[in-house]
Parts: sequence; C-alpha cells; structure tokens
Amino acid sequence: MSTTSQDVLDRVERERQDYLEELEEYLRIPSISTDPAFKDDVLRCAGFVVDLMKDAGLEARLIDSAHGGYPLVYGEWSGAPGKPTILFYGHYDVQPADPIELWEHPPFEPAVVGDRIYARGATDDKGQSFAHLKAVAAMLAERGSLPINVKFIIEGEEESGGETIDHFVSEDAGELLACDAVFISDSAMYAPGQPSLIYGLKGLAYMEIKVTGPNRDLHSGSFGGAVTNPLNALAQIVGQLRDAKTGRILIPGFYDDVLEIEDWERSEFAAFDFDEEAYRGELGVPELFGEEGYTTLERTWVRPTCDVNGIFGGYAGHGAKTVLPAWGGAKVSMRLVPDQDLEKIERLFTEYVQSIAPQGVEVEVTSHHGGQPVLLATEGPVVDAAMAAMEDIWQRPVRVREGGSIPIVSTFSSVLGVPILLLGFGLSDDCLHSPNEKLDLGNFYGGIRAVVRLLDRLATTQVS
Ligand code: BES
Ligand code: MN
Ligand code: MN
Repeated sequence: MSTTSQDVLDRVERERQDYLEELEEYLRIPSISTDPAFKDDVLRCAGFVVDLMKDAGLEARLIDSAHGGYPLVYGEWSGAPGKPTILFYGHYDVQPADPIELWEHPPFEPAVVGDRIYARGATDDKGQSFAHLKAVAAMLAERGSLPINVKFIIEGEEESGGETIDHFVSEDAGELLACDAVFISDSAMYAPGQPSLIYGLKGLAYMEIKVTGPNRDLHSGSFGGAVTNPLNALAQIVGQLRDAKTGRILIPGFYDDVLEIEDWERSEFAAFDFDEEAYRGELGVPELFGEEGYTTLERTWVRPTCDVNGIFGGYAGHGAKTVLPAWGGAKVSMRLVPDQDLEKIERLFTEYVQSIAPQGVEVEVTSHHGGQPVLLATEGPVVDAAMAAMEDIWQRPVRVREGGSIPIVSTFSSVLGVPILLLGFGLSDDCLHSPNEKLDLGNFYGGIRAVVRLLDRLATTQVS
C-alpha cells in the first residue's frame, strides 16, 4: 500500500468536478434547524447524508432523537481490526440565510465564482464535513479498504442547541462511539496557506432579560416622569454589565474560575504576524476595543466576553412616536473560557441582574441553550500525525485557540476521554453566519488531501 497516499491523491484530482457537483447538491438543501418552517428540508438533508455515506462505502443509518429533535446520521467502516478507530464529527444543519437581500447569489443556489463556492453552509459545516467524508470515500474507491477504522456522527442541530447529540453522547453512546480520537471538521485555518491546530474553544451562556413596566404603552408626555420606563431600566442594567473604560465584566465572581493565559501561549500568539491595522480596517471600525491588559488575539481566544446580541421593545418604526413602552428585552451572550462553568455563570448573571434591577419594574432573566468551554491536547501521537499531514499539504500548523463554540466538543472530551482534534480548513473571511458565506475550493480539496494523508499516517502510528 502506498505510504505517500499518491494513489488516492491522484483519484481526488481526477474526481474534482464530481465532488464539487455533489457538494452543490448538498448545499441546495436549506437545512435550517432553528426555523420550524424548514423541518422537511432538515429531515431530507439527513437522508441525503445517509446516502452520501452509503455511496462512500460506509454502513450508515439515521439515529432518531429520543427527545423529538432532528436525527443524527451515523456511519462506520470497521474492516481494519487491530488498527485505530477515528470518529469524525460534523453538522448538516445551517444557519438561517437572512438578511437575504445582501446575498449576491441566492443562499441555496450554490455559485462557483473563481476559486470559491458561495452558499449557506459552504464552510459551516457542509463543505468541511463533506471533505472529510470524501477523503474516506476516495480511499475506499481506490483501494477497497481503509488503513484504519472510521466512524462518522453528523448532527442536525448544532446551530440550534445540539441537544439531541448531547443527550445521545452523554446517555447511550459510550460503546457505539468508542474510538481512539475524534476529528472535528467545523473550524478554520489561521490564515490562507497556514493551517492551525485549535486547542481551545469557548463555551457559551446565552441569556435573555425581560423588563416589564406599566400594563400598556403610555403617552410619554402625559405619563413621562411618573413611572420607571422599562427601556431606560434595561439600558441601565445593560450599561452595568461591563466597565466602559477597562472592558472588564462587572458580574461579581465572573472571573473566579478563569484560567490565566500561560507564558507559552502569550509568546506563541505574540509571534504571529497578526496585523491589527488590517484587521481593524477589514471590520470597518475606527478603533479596536477590548479588555485592558490583553492583545486582540488574547481577547478573542483566551478571555471571556459579555455582549448584547439584540435589544428590543418600544417604537422602532419610521419617524417619531411618543410612547413610553410597557416592556423591553435584551439578549446577552457570554463566551466562556476554561475553567468557567456554564451553570455557575448563568446563576451569577441572574443574581447580578436582579441585584441591579431599578425600582418600579419587574425584571425576569432566562437562559437559552449554551455550552461548556474546553481545552484540548496540544501534544501526543495523534496531534503529531495531524501536524505532519497538514504540513504535507500546506505548512506546519500553528497552535491557536478560537472564540467560537462547538458545544458537543466538551461532552466528547468528558465522555470519550480520547484526544480531540479540530481539523478545520475554513478561513476567517468565509462569512459563516453572514451573507455570502463561501468556501475556498483550494481549501476544500486541500482538506480532502490532508485527511487522506492523515489516515495513512495513522495506520502506522501507535495512538495510545
Ligand atoms: N462552526 C461554528 C463554530 C466555530 C466558528 C468554530 C469559527 C471555529 C471557528 C459553529 O457552527 C457555531 O456557529 N457555533 C455556535 C454555537 C452556538 C449556536 C451554540 C457559536 O459559536 O455561536
Ligand atoms: Mn459549525
Ligand atoms: Mn455555525
């Protein structure tokens, strides 16, 4: 068997166009998990992924949710007894496409422009997890076998809470998902041509504040001055979440469990050629701002944050309407870092908001779905093999952390107890969750080739 993987890499080259057309078909399915109007499409998408796996040569099936959520897609090939087993994770659901009018091509009609494919899900996460699957498919097609065993678990609710997979992994998946390492498809490289080994993901606590005042909207002249205005009260609360000058979060106890950045992280991040000015310009802001004492990379990767995501209530239509609103609301997310705990932060937030609630209104705090933060291994035989495989295609990966969240990763880490690697090859300008999401085709094919190299390398790696 080839140790350079050249046989399979040649096939990938020959079949480029077929892969692309199949990916386009996948991207045409509007599998928006958060919006019930798309339920049939999400279910159809799950079936499509089962077929993709079967066509690749895996044994595949749906695993229905015990709690009424969207099914998981499971596939495996276990013809290499005595060899390591890798579990691949991805998600087949996507974010909503709005604001639709800002898309240059319709979000669910994939458009190849130059060396990029544009569509909702192109990078997050259909294109990426499809590339992982295609690497396996190409190996099976070329050789009739794999050098190691593989399992795939692709969920349909990552963008809307991931409850189905979380229940499944924590309650009944121990044996089915037993493996020597997990590969996650759902992330990005540090820069074009510069792959990364992401060893930290943030957690997420997502809260909603509702402030209720008078029993109806009031004339703001006749009644103004007599009662607490719920939107003024809300602004007061939100204004006390962070110190405007230092950027520090003011919730008592919030920083108690935060792991401080380590010296090696500080010096490795500082050595990147990160261009603050270009970053600032690309985002179109007059200046960057964040927590005092930390660089931009440190703020986004290793420091917890607290941000208002939406604020609503009162009159927001055209022109002026003099009204004192009956209620107001805000959605606030906190990105958590190790060793902060989701439940504890939800509790601290709720207690703090209640404690600063202005008089004369009722304040209600609720929490939405979230996830725990996680730190992953930066060393070991599987990490080495992945570093080498990515170096075969691009160059040696840099070790970075990430401000985004993939809630199931911390559950995998605690339940499965094996190394977890984030092998993403998206780019930071892929516009995930934004209009005009895209994937660079060079990264798509490079990702397939890197996984082929990695699986061949793992066949001769002592994994534990
Ligand atoms: N793939 C992203 C997370 C991500 C983004 C990882 C960029 C690495 C680089 C994932 O699909 C996502 O959007 N996660 C949500 C989680 C939430 C819905 C619980 C997030 O981070 O907002
Ligand atoms: Mn994703
Ligand atoms: Mn996402």
